[in-house]
Amino acid sequence: MLSCSKTILSFFFLFLQFNRFSTAFGANEELNILDHNIMLVNTNATVPKVEKINFEATPPAKQTKIEDDCKKGLYHIENAASLNELQSKCWKVMGSIEVSSNFSESLVDLGSIKEIEGDLIIKNNKHVFRIQGYNLESLRKLELHSLTSFVSLDLPALREVETVDWRVLPILSSVVINGNIKKAKGIIISDTALTSIDYFNNVKEVDIFNINNNRYLETLSTKLESVTKQLSVHSNAKELQLDLSNLYTVENMTVKDVSAIKVAKLSSVNSSLEFIENQFSSLELPLLAKVQGTLGLIDNKNLKKLDFSNVTDIQGGFMIANNTELVKFDFFPKLRQIGGAIYFEGSFEKIDFPELKLVKGSAYIKSSSDELNCEDFTTPKSGRSIIRGGKIECTSGMRSKMLNVDEDGNVLGKQESDNSSEKKEKGRNGTKNQGSSKKMENSAPKNIFIDAFKTSIYTVLTVLFATVF
Ligand SMILES: *[C@@H]1O[C@H](CO)[C@@H](O)[C@H](O)[C@H]1NC(C)=O
Ligand SMILES: *[C@@H]1O[C@H](CO)[C@@H](O)[C@H](O)[C@H]1NC(C)=O
Ligand SMILES: *[C@@H]1O[C@H](CO)[C@@H](O)[C@H](O)[C@H]1NC(C)=O
Ligand SMILES: *[C@@H]1O[C@H](CO)[C@@H](O)[C@H](O)[C@H]1NC(C)=O
Ligand SMILES: *[C@@H]1O[C@H](CO)[C@@H](O)[C@H](O)[C@H]1NC(C)=O
Ligand SMILES: *[C@@H]1O[C@H](CO)[C@@H](O)[C@H](O)[C@H]1NC(C)=O
Ligand SMILES: *[C@@H]1O[C@H](CO)[C@@H](O)[C@H](O)[C@H]1NC(C)=O
Ligand SMILES: *[C@@H]1O[C@H](CO)[C@@H](O)[C@H](O)[C@H]1NC(C)=O
Repeated sequence: MLSCSKTILSFFFLFLQFNRFSTAFGANEELNILDHNIMLVNTNATVPKVEKINFEATPPAKQTKIEDDCKKGLYHIENAASLNELQSKCWKVMGSIEVSSNFSESLVDLGSIKEIEGDLIIKNNKHVFRIQGYNLESLRKLELHSLTSFVSLDLPALREVETVDWRVLPILSSVVINGNIKKAKGIIISDTALTSIDYFNNVKEVDIFNINNNRYLETLSTKLESVTKQLSVHSNAKELQLDLSNLYTVENMTVKDVSAIKVAKLSSVNSSLEFIENQFSSLELPLLAKVQGTLGLIDNKNLKKLDFSNVTDIQGGFMIANNTELVKFDFFPKLRQIGGAIYFEGSFEKIDFPELKLVKGSAYIKSSSDELNCEDFTTPKSGRSIIRGGKIECTSGMRSKMLNVDEDGNVLGKQESDNSSEKKEKGRNGTKNQGSSKKMENSAPKNIFIDAFKTSIYTVLTVLFATVF
């Protein structure tokens, strides 16, 4: 009795399995969302082998002829049938393909399309699970935005792509690109589940390289040599190891939430350079000579070892803040000139920039350590301050000094406050002390400066995200 019902049950189970497979590999090679697990196990299962052979057998002469139907400029794809028709007619699409958010299949199959002169755009679609183009070799832009079911991209033959713009693909975890992609204008990969993006490792020059919010991305190793607009790596896996060891020139660069970095060849930064909230303990840029914008080292809690031994000029502002392990600022032995303001905050004990001759902006220096000697900045030896931007404020422990200077560095006025003694003297001479504390606060450039810095990274991102390529 028991074994009989068991047999019936197993037959029933087999029947169910059979049904599942037969729907999965049904007539049109269409796949259902329910079959995700099958596809994850064996992505080759969906390769229409016959089609591949057919394509290889196509004589090149036939390929050179392009039908008028393939020159429409823009193709709105609403369903699998229209995509199927396009791919069967056109090995080369002279235009862009835009898959509608109404496209309700789980598979976007580019079939025999080999070249797309324009872009492939798929946005705001909840159904697309997989995009495949076994023959696709080149296209201009691959724009994939907000595809919540999208798991797998298979473009094994891809060799040329100008811009990769992938955002909000929260479960994208499998990408097959075997081609050796060497050139690209933009690579933006944001909010995916990818653990590697090494198919772009051989790109050497790019305008924009922005890799952010890929929470499983633990290594990023590039051969990038030059980034002409923006290099930004932030908010990926906390363990991210970043290798930029061939990079020698960059416009703007922001690195945040990285646990190890190699960037030893970097020689010129034509705009700003920021390292924020990283875990790495050493940062070595021995060849860097000039930063033509702002240089910021902020909240790098483990940072101990720095090498900026060839930096002579920082043309924008200079911010070193809350790097808790940094006790001495003595890693800029050749720094001569700062074009903007200085902002130093933390628990450091010594500032030693032996060659520094000129700071065109003002200076805000605040250390919680009593060891810091403010005199170097507040009582210039020559009588003239190297700081020419109007105001100097230096706080060491409980003591603050504030100076006003003119453009030539002449001291115009001084204020001092000592909160430790203020308490003692308060009863006797309270009004003056209170007055000076208040004045000092009002004149401190602190808040504006911090805000500018903190927003800068976001500004860059906003600008970037608004950029249309
Ligand atoms: C897919 O096929 C290739 C070659 O035919 C093979 O090397 C690879 O292991 C296959 N992948 C899977 C997931 O079966
Ligand atoms: C989706 O389909 C609806 C109804 O057919 C149509 O009104 C709408 O414009 C379509 N949306 C897109 C993005 O094509
Ligand atoms: C930065 O400027 C230098 C000198 O003007 C130039 O050679 C280099 O290509 C520039 N780098 C970038 C990334 O634009
Ligand atoms: C330092 O920078 C200068 C450019 O200002 C460059 O010519 C020189 O090679 C660099 N020195 C080292 C040791 O990297
Ligand atoms: C540094 O840390 C202090 C105390 O946590 C905070 O108030 C300040 O805003 C931080 N400064 C920057 C530039 O992040
Ligand atoms: C001194 O005390 C005032 C108010 O009591 C405060 O605003 C100011 O930041 C303190 N200065 C220092 C250096 O602690
Ligand atoms: C506070 O002390 C200053 C001199 O240090 C003096 O000029 C001023 O009159 C005093 N104010 C009061 C209220 O005692
Ligand atoms: C570089 O970043 C700054 C802000 O940090 C921004 O103002 C500037 O426009 C950026 N430059 C480029 C070329 O993206």
